[in-house]
Amino acid sequence: MSGCPFLAGRPIVGHLMAMRRDPLLFHQAISNNNGDIFKLRLGLETFFVVNHPNLIDHVFTKNTSNYVKSHHYKRMNYLLGDGIFTATGEEWKRRRRLAQPAFQGDSLTAAFDAMKPAVQSFLARMSTASGSTISLSAEATRLSLDMVLRAFFGINDSSDAAVIASALAELMPELDRRIWAILPPAVRSLTPAARRAKAALKAINEALHRLIVRRLKDDEVRDNLLGLLVRAERDAGWSTESLKRLRDEAMVFLVAGHETTASTLTWAWYLLSLHPSIGRQLEASVVGAPGEGSEWAERIFQETMRLHPPGWLLTRSALKDDVLGGVRIPAGANLIVPIEL
Ligand code: HEM
Repeated sequence: MSGCPFLAGRPIVGHLMAMRRDPLLFHQAISNNNGDIFKLRLGLETFFVVNHPNLIDHVFTKNTSNYVKSHHYKRMNYLLGDGIFTATGEEWKRRRRLAQPAFQGDSLTAAFDAMKPAVQSFLARMSTASGSTISLSAEATRLSLDMVLRAFFGINDSSDAAVIASALAELMPELDRRIWAILPPAVRSLTPAARRAKAALKAINEALHRLIVRRLKDDEVRDNLLGLLVRAERDAGWSTESLKRLRDEAMVFLVAGHETTASTLTWAWYLLSLHPSIGRQLEASVVGAPGEGSEWAERIFQETMRLHPPGWLLTRSALKDDVLGGVRIPAGANLIVPIEL
């Protein structure tokens, strides 16, 4: 058993500020010289950074039952509640089983079909924007959110979509601030941004409740995600907890489903603008032979995510003692698993 490098950083903050300033650059800087596993202090906490694919494989596949989502995920509860993203153990398995069918077979095909009007209205917007300056990330967010709302929530009603979109525009930056916050939540909640976020949270909760209640009264069988979740809750016997459970799960899929996709799209468009010949290949393959285009698109998105991963690190906690790359990991230790290696 060996020791490992320890990057302590400054008193009290450790390396937190440097990491917050530019997470990917910071990770690149520290990952080159410190070996396959090393310790890093962020604020008052110390993390083991798992910096080799074989060790990451150990954490996520070989000894996965020993590693659960760390307590840091709780910082997202403010928005996500207790949905699948923050759940662990048996509760996580139960939620996973419930949602899985929405991402398989006919349900997935129906989800793709439901997304098409979102793409068409995006193309119509772009055709009138020719010659003007647009924000790639704002357009990608609008498109991704529209796709998620239609495909997984069955929303075609633009007033619900508008409420959700403007609330998320306030809530996503607030979520980010909370993830990185040094001040305790009680102090942060006094800031104007936090007050605006509180109003946005109320608005989005009301919109989700409306959708859930509408779906509940709906006798038509819906194969989209929200339809499946509402039906499962109703079949299991509606209880006082049901509405909150559904709201939390809906919020997770809303946030997880659109943010990552929007980030990937933004970077893909940017990279294509730097490499126009690849864009022409993609276009030619789509026009030339339907189907071939998807292989090109897949390669482009894979490479985009390799270069600019939307979720760039995951954290886990060890349940029992373990050994990683010859280094002892005590029970309770927190791990950082970077996605960009
Ligand atoms: C480019 C697109 C996407 C990327 C890069 C991405 C990335 C990720 C990553 C890295 C995680 C693991 C988080 C962790 O364990 O800490 C995750 C989880 C999750 N993602 Fe995505 N995601 C994408 C699209 C989506 C979409 C479209 C949806 C839903 C419609 C979605 C829903 C979820 C959910 C529900 C979880 C939690 C799953 C669980 O804990 O079992 N994601 N995603």
